[in-house]
Amino acid sequence: MTTLSIENIRIRYGRREVIPGLDVAALQPGEVTALLGPNGCGKTTLLKAIAGLIRCDGRVMFDGQTFGYGDFAARARHIAYLPQTLPPTVHLRVFESILVARQATAVGLARGGDHAEVLQVLDRLDIGHLAMHYLSELSGGQRQLVGIAQALVRAPAVLLLDEPLSALDLNHQFQVMDLLRQETRARGMVTVIVLHDLNVALRHTDRALLLKAGQLVAEGPPAAVINDATLAEVYGVRGRVEPCSQGFSQIMVDGLVGA
Ligand SMILES: Nc1ncnc2c1ncn2[C@@H]1O[C@H](COP(=O)(O)OP(=O)(O)OP(=O)(O)O)[C@@H](O)[C@H]1O
Ligand SMILES: [Mg+2]
Repeated sequence: MTTLSIENIRIRYGRREVIPGLDVAALQPGEVTALLGPNGCGKTTLLKAIAGLIRCDGRVMFDGQTFGYGDFAARARHIAYLPQTLPPTVHLRVFESILVARQATAVGLARGGDHAEVLQVLDRLDIGHLAMHYLSELSGGQRQLVGIAQALVRAPAVLLLDEPLSALDLNHQFQVMDLLRQETRARGMVTVIVLHDLNVALRHTDRALLLKAGQLVAEGPPAAVINDATLAEVYGVRGRVEPCSQGFSQIMVDGLVGA
């Protein structure tokens, strides 16, 4: 079981500092954390730094240990990362692409069960019927579901997903969040998901990190992090968080701050 913590991380692109020094107390195994904040605040940058894809100062610690930048093999064994923009497709069928993802990185897993694992994850994401389709034949949302399958099947200790719901319909959004929460708990993963839909964060995640201009504005249970004051301060909207008839918190946006 792995924890993930961040100590005084600083990231710059050229001379521009995007993350000027950020600490995150240990994220616990079995918990889904929402990484929230407006466009350009540094969410993708932070996720890439955790995944070891960009250099940063400071420390990203997995169970109190750091990986060196460039220690790709060790990171790949621990971390699965789904980018915000999916890479161009290779000429593979859906089933093959997920099998390759599993066999490339899931070191030490029983090989015999790989086919069954792939079929199971396809089934749980409701895309079993696409197994023999080529990646290039898929719709945007179907591609995104395959990307999620490729990340999950690697059985990582740390799962990093950058806007994994952006192309999904309401049914698949709910299904994916439900599955991620179940899998995170069952396997004791640390899961971090970048989200713009704050209602999804309220309904489906255990913790939230709220960023503004590369700094952590609030951290804690989503219902404590997302409130009228943070909606105004971070998103510049006049909003309300109110319980719906089923008792779940929901956000209503009434207008823009100052308008
Ligand atoms: N490769 C890059 N080179 C230079 N600047 C970059 C690069 N990538 C991102 N930036 C800048 O860093 C800042 C943070 O970008 P980042 O992609 O982390 O934002 P984000 O929070 O993920 O936004 P979004 O919600 O739009 O995806 C932005 O101002 C962006 O313009
Ligand atoms: Mg982003």
